[in-house]
Amino acid sequence: MKTIIEPFKIKSVEPIRMSSVQERAEILKRAGYNPFAIRAEDVLIDYLTDSGTSSMSSEQWAAMMRGDESYAGSRSFFRFEEEVRRITGFRNIIPTHQGRAAEKILFNVLHKPGAVYLGNTHFDTTRANIEYLGDEAIDLVIPEGLIPSKIHPFKGNIDLERLEDNLKKHKGQVPAVITTVTNNSGGGQPVSMENIRETSRLARKYGALFVLDSARFAENAYFIKMRERDYADKSPREIAQEIFSYADATTMSAKKDGLANIGGFLACNDDDLAAEARNLLILTEGFPTYGGLAGRDLDAIAQGLREVLEEDYLHYRVRSTAYFAEKISEAGVPLILPPGGHAVYIDAGAFLDHIPPEQFPGQVLANEIYLHGGIRGVEIGSVMFGKQDPETGAFQPAVLELLRLAIPRRVYTQSHVDYSAEVITEVYKKRRELRGFKIVYEAPYLRHFTARFEPLA
Ligand code: F0G
Repeated sequence: MKTIIEPFKIKSVEPIRMSSVQERAEILKRAGYNPFAIRAEDVLIDYLTDSGTSSMSSEQWAAMMRGDESYAGSRSFFRFEEEVRRITGFRNIIPTHQGRAAEKILFNVLHKPGAVYLGNTHFDTTRANIEYLGDEAIDLVIPEGLIPSKIHPFKGNIDLERLEDNLKKHKGQVPAVITTVTNNSGGGQPVSMENIRETSRLARKYGALFVLDSARFAENAYFIKMRERDYADKSPREIAQEIFSYADATTMSAKKDGLANIGGFLACNDDDLAAEARNLLILTEGFPTYGGLAGRDLDAIAQGLREVLEEDYLHYRVRSTAYFAEKISEAGVPLILPPGGHAVYIDAGAFLDHIPPEQFPGQVLANEIYLHGGIRGVEIGSVMFGKQDPETGAFQPAVLELLRLAIPRRVYTQSHVDYSAEVITEVYKKRRELRGFKIVYEAPYLRHFTARFEPLA
């Protein structure tokens, strides 16, 4: 059959409140033209993030009721540990309240003066946790990964030649090489098994750990099954197990492929590393058998990790994201191709090529799709990553001006996607009428969350 159906039916629903264009114009003005400041109830379709926004299954809700809230050694922890170990193979499994808490602990343990981390593209929180300690993070994604329209099956791959050059250059200073699967900041693009294997080999050759940032490991495993030779007949679980077999440690935000609304973990084989991590965990997260989570959360994650590797689910997930991308691509909308697993990334710089980066085309587009159709996405461009040269004060744009539409798991149906594609296509037709923005307030760090804007005349 050509039609892919959602492989679930809906038992509990949440209403969407309809609103008018006039109402949304007022809401945007009040929000300082920043979608982060809009109340969720004023949004029709929310593509702000795929993190913590999944619908849980009836089995996950049942698992929540089995949650054991004992402070130490709860049954929930052992169910969680067993499931994580079954996929990752790691000996030490340390729960945390979300992914960045695992990152904070890992980078604190690995920190030494002058440390340099190498990766495909470090996610914002990963980079921020590294830089907060005074260490450096270098992105080494393949050149194809930086060209939105360039078709390549594994645009998340690390450039192995540049990786080895950097490992030589910073010899003795690289605690870890980090591969993010899928490569969120580079468009949710997958990394091939071959690239993971080679990265692991190079890291170890130069005495560095190989760490996976595995938030979307199941989607990555499915892309390997679809696109890489010799993997078509393997199950997503077998592929995931092989991915983790090359790593020394992993940090995972369970808010994505964990299909849970909160949670994460750090896992590794080295007992000394784990012992140091558990000491920090007790300081900031909690006792090692709950790590900042309720027992019921651990059970929801354990069940989510079972469901996310089901082939019907992954087929639907990857296909439905591609369906959205294909619909708007056919209408002429420029975007990152091929589409990634969890989101559609519109190339706002090309969409609004009459608006220069210093007038924030991604932010303009985020506003317009909200105004026109009540859709919320997030700018990933010069609002998020643009800087001012500390000497000259000159504006330094981001590498790309993108608008990310991240798709919550098991939440929206095909008609929501059809509606979204229609809104974006209509906005595309009137793109020449749109004008840029200027920033009228910004915080010193991570300004995109709280900045306020004004439209230029
Ligand atoms: N690593 C990756 C690749 C991520 O995408 C995220 C979160 C994290 C780590 C941090 O995990 O949120 O549980 O602390 N990404 C979200 C997003 C916020 O919208 O892409 P967390």
